[in-house]
Amino acid sequence: MLKGRSLLEPLDFSVEEMETLFSAADRIIDAPDGYADVCRGKILATLFYEPSTRTRFSFEAAMLRLGGQVIGFSEPGSSSVAKGESIADTMRTVACYADLAVIRHPKEGAPRVAALSTGMPVINAGDGGHQHPTQTLTDLLTIRRERGRFENLTIGLCGDLKFGRTVHSLIKALSRYGGIRFVLISPEELMIPDYVRKEVLQKGAAAFDEVRKLQDVMPELDALYMTRVQKERFFNEEDYIRLKDSYILDAEKMRLARPDMMVLHPLPRVNEIAVEVDADPRAVYFKQAKNGMYVRMALIMALLGLERTAEGL
Ligand code: NCD
Repeated sequence: MLKGRSLLEPLDFSVEEMETLFSAADRIIDAPDGYADVCRGKILATLFYEPSTRTRFSFEAAMLRLGGQVIGFSEPGSSSVAKGESIADTMRTVACYADLAVIRHPKEGAPRVAALSTGMPVINAGDGGHQHPTQTLTDLLTIRRERGRFENLTIGLCGDLKFGRTVHSLIKALSRYGGIRFVLISPEELMIPDYVRKEVLQKGAAAFDEVRKLQDVMPELDALYMTRVQKERFFNEEDYIRLKDSYILDAEKMRLARPDMMVLHPLPRVNEIAVEVDADPRAVYFKQAKNGMYVRMALIMALLGLERTAEGL
């Protein structure tokens, strides 16, 4: 049962619990209108201390499509945060008004502090360069719908693997499935952090290679997960400028890939995928963004304990 729980890390839910969310999302996608009243009378709070388009909009759209309401801020400067209020106090207050909360924060661990300050479910919508578990739900739902399975896949992750929180969460989540091989493609300076490497290694379940050149590995991949170089996490502009265009996926490189290799990207994209790739049927990143709303509908229902109502529809 997910009722009353928080989602702070990609491994907070078991493989079976994730599976219930994916099948709920599939049911919603098949008949979205049947869910229009499931969350009537419920309120979702969105606390965004960092910029967001997809994550905030998809959570808000998810709650609205479930018949619930949304309160929140996307400019912390317009809330009492500007007066120096702590996350704990903000959360205790928000819990007086809302049934669950979504929080994005530049500090790693802030959503955990938020969850400890209240009894209501808290969802981590990205904490610094650390984790982003609901993007992982989005990514996994997309892989599952496109490929029908998670096992025995070779997944390339390319770009900023150091600061890219979506990458850290996706690696953790996928390493629980059998026969996964990761191909980690990044410049030396943007390799995955040690703690992720160790967790993948210690689990022993997933094989992985770390490489520099995208072209060389393209033909091996079942999926390629492109990421933007995370400008806001760099300490100096020079390093960012030097590294920002390390990889650009274009039509020419796509010719090296398998005919069924899916291209994923959490978005926003900057230069790392040329616009010409959008027309390639293997590019699924906008579909992925839409899946994000559906899986968040499933998540909200589950945390509020409303999944039965929906299943009975
Ligand atoms: C990602 C994030 O915020 O980490 N965006 C998203 O939520 N879809 C990826 C990014 O910002 O590069």
